[in-house]
Amino acid sequence: MGKIIMCGSFKGGVGKSVTTFNLAYSLAEIGKKVLAVDFDSQANLTTCFGVEDVEALPVTIGHLMMAEIEEEALPETVDYIHSRNGVDFIPSSMVLSAVDSKLRLEMGAEGMLSTTGCG
Ligand SMILES: Nc1ncnc2c1ncn2[C@@H]1O[C@H](COP(=O)(O)OP(=O)(O)OP(=O)(O)O)[C@@H](O)[C@H]1O
Ligand SMILES: [Mg+2]
Repeated sequence: MGKIIMCGSFKGGVGKSVTTFNLAYSLAEIGKKVLAVDFDSQANLTTCFGVEDVEALPVTIGHLMMAEIEEEALPETVDYIHSRNGVDFIPSSMVLSAVDSKLRLEMGAEGMLSTTGCG
């Protein structure tokens, strides 16, 4: 069974993205299979993984969350799980900020990640 590690804080600029990136590669280094998920619409983690044009990505975590909210079929994993030097990741983009606004109006939004296949 996989473990989920969340790196988050309301405070900005405290090293969340850098910690996530370094932790992902450190865990991969000791033989763990890692999927890093960028849940920030600033997409700094996505940029760390070498994606240059974040807004050109056809499927990001924002698209997946939106599909879950709208109860649409999710794309194939090959369309949104990227891989760089032995670490898999799901990118983010500004689309996630639209999801954030939409989730505020949804009942039970706080349980969405635990009850769906998203994330
Ligand atoms: N251990 C560290 N030592 C020195 N500088 C660090 C360290 N960790 C992070 N930084 C630097 O601090 C800055 C903020 O880091 P980072 O972007 O990871 O923070 P964040 O919490 O993700 O920010 P945001 O709230 O904007 O998403 C970056 O310039 C990063 O290079
Ligand atoms: Mg960050």
